[in-house]
Amino acid sequence: MHKQVSRRDFMRLGAGAAALGAAARVEFLKPTMLAAAPRVVPPSDRVRFASIGTGIRGSEIMRAALGCPGTEIVAACDLYDGRREWAKENSGKPNLEVTKEYRRILDRKDIDAVLVAVPDHWHRKLVEEVCASGKDAYCEKPMSHTVEDGFAMIEAMQKHQRIVQVGSQRRSSIVYAKAKEIFDSGYLGQVTAVEAWVDRNDASGAWVYPIPPDANEKTIDWETFQGSAPKHPFDLKRFFRWRCYQDYGEGLTGDLYVHLLTGIHFITGHNGPPQRAAAMGGLYRWTEDRDVPDLIWTLYQYPHFTLGVRCNLNNESAEVTRIFGTKGTLEIKNDVLSVSPQDTQPHPESYSIYGWEEKTRADYLRQWEADHPTPSPGKWPIGQDSLVFKAPDNYDYSLDHMNNFMESVRTRKPSVEDAVFGNGTAIACHMANHSYFHKTVAVWDEAGKRIKG
Ligand SMILES: NC(=O)c1ccc[n+]([C@@H]2O[C@H](COP(=O)([O-])OP(=O)(O)OC[C@H]3O[C@@H](n4cnc5c(N)ncnc54)[C@H](O)[C@@H]3O)[C@@H](O)[C@H]2O)c1
Repeated sequence: MHKQVSRRDFMRLGAGAAALGAAARVEFLKPTMLAAAPRVVPPSDRVRFASIGTGIRGSEIMRAALGCPGTEIVAACDLYDGRREWAKENSGKPNLEVTKEYRRILDRKDIDAVLVAVPDHWHRKLVEEVCASGKDAYCEKPMSHTVEDGFAMIEAMQKHQRIVQVGSQRRSSIVYAKAKEIFDSGYLGQVTAVEAWVDRNDASGAWVYPIPPDANEKTIDWETFQGSAPKHPFDLKRFFRWRCYQDYGEGLTGDLYVHLLTGIHFITGHNGPPQRAAAMGGLYRWTEDRDVPDLIWTLYQYPHFTLGVRCNLNNESAEVTRIFGTKGTLEIKNDVLSVSPQDTQPHPESYSIYGWEEKTRADYLRQWEADHPTPSPGKWPIGQDSLVFKAPDNYDYSLDHMNNFMESVRTRKPSVEDAVFGNGTAIACHMANHSYFHKTVAVWDEAGKRIKG
């Protein structure tokens, strides 16, 4: 159903809609069932969960989980005292059991699911142990820190028959679901090119987060934080700004590419790594204390299309994904989805015939007109409108993603974003980094399950 929109509503849609001109039809996407009517869950279906990692993202997904019907938090774990205290405040449970030893959570028999929101170098071990303890895992993106990690995590999911959901929330967004519907309908024709970017231009966007004044060797368990990573003396920057270091994260690719790739893999139905990646970029501006680039631009080869992805920490712009087809173009700009048709009406050749003799050209044009008579009035083909879709105000796709996880935990229905899907997008990130750091084209070796090049 297309809702009538006022001019004011239309203006609110911003540049995405405006660029398409007044001809665009605008549809407000329906909120999910959860937002429309939270369902009552019987006590027997309650999901009891714990959080491991209660920092920036861990806090958000804890709240998302508590916002889902029929959930209860029973414990939280973090290595920094301040975050354990914050977990009690954030959960609204001043007496919440908190610990810095995650095994105390895994040893409990009354926990169904664990939210894993720790730096990436810890994802594999925690997901393996959560699965082995008979619990389901929601693991933040990117799923893996290395290619080997990802396959080990798939094995853990399959061996212990657990739900593992990766936390790239675009997979559950109603905007991306609509984009997939349009893609699958054939509206875009043959799609051969895709481009996407996330760009930022401030210290927070570049992960230069302030360090809390009470953070020190006494309030932080540095040894556990390092885990399997190369050892360094106690370092607050490494602890709070871990995204800047290859030991713990993957820089821009693992932090931001993965969101773009999740949306693109979901829309196009691709479930696995790309075939090749060639990345360029540099560390141009944020040169203090990091070993990852602040600009990385990658061309990926997929079986049916070529994808260009960019993340730049030195100039801010809207987040964009664009899909180019022979019959139409789809664009997602922030949370506005717009689709516009290509001109596919027949036209006489208007370029190369100007290298012909005049008579030959005139004959060609006369014949073309005869073959394509001008339709009589009222018989003009009706062109497809441009379409614009927007999520309702305050739409939260993280909440939908978490609710999908909780439903899978309850019903054992496979996750919308399981470890196989998460592995494909994470490997794409590792391929871009491989290409950038080795100055080569990264090739995915499907048989050997490794990156070559
Ligand atoms: N889906 C998204 O939109 C999104 C957004 C931000 C971050 N993330 C992901 O979430 C994860 C966490 O990122 P963040 O920004 O919250 O980091 P953060 O540094 O704010 O928090 C991480 C927390 O994990 C804790 N921790 C580390 N190792 C631990 C261990 N072994 N046991 C218990 N606690 C441990 C640390 O003490 C820290 O408080 C990362 O994988 C990141 O990529 C996802």
